[in-house]
Amino acid sequence: MTQRITQFIKSITARITKEDYELMNKYLGDQKRLKELFLLLPVFEQRHCIDVAQTIQKQFSEQLNEEQKHTIMQAALLHDLGKLNMGLNPVTKSVAVIFDKINRQSAMRLTGKMKFMNGYYNHPEIGAEILKQCNVQEEIIYLVRHHHQDQGSNYNNLLNILMEADELN
Ligand SMILES: [Fe+2]
Repeated sequence: MTQRITQFIKSITARITKEDYELMNKYLGDQKRLKELFLLLPVFEQRHCIDVAQTIQKQFSEQLNEEQKHTIMQAALLHDLGKLNMGLNPVTKSVAVIFDKINRQSAMRLTGKMKFMNGYYNHPEIGAEILKQCNVQEEIIYLVRHHHQDQGSNYNNLLNILMEADELN
């Protein structure tokens, strides 16, 4: 609960600095469409994606080679792209979290009726489909598609890292 409240406050006060955009440009700058899509996200979602990328840089980059680092940094910046235009904002997201906590099965039935509930539950799949239309490595599409996968499955190392960094932010 405390973590959720902190997340809510963080999202309504989110800001992006010049250094943040430099990081985004470093990893998405040479792919115009990806950069455009990232910038279409609301600021609080951009903030979250940059936070996840920065956590990976700080805590996990030592275990990764350059190619893996580039892959996971792109995936981190794009992992919540499926939330684009789904009516998710700090308030509707909080509603979705509460519905999910009360009764996940019933809440999941709302995906056909409420766009933001669809975004909340299905944004990994939606994001992966958006990225399929872009010139993106299969590995990135895989990471985006599975970033909320239930615990207990066989994750690859990059997916583990992305999920852990997402959880920390
Ligand atoms: Fe997500």
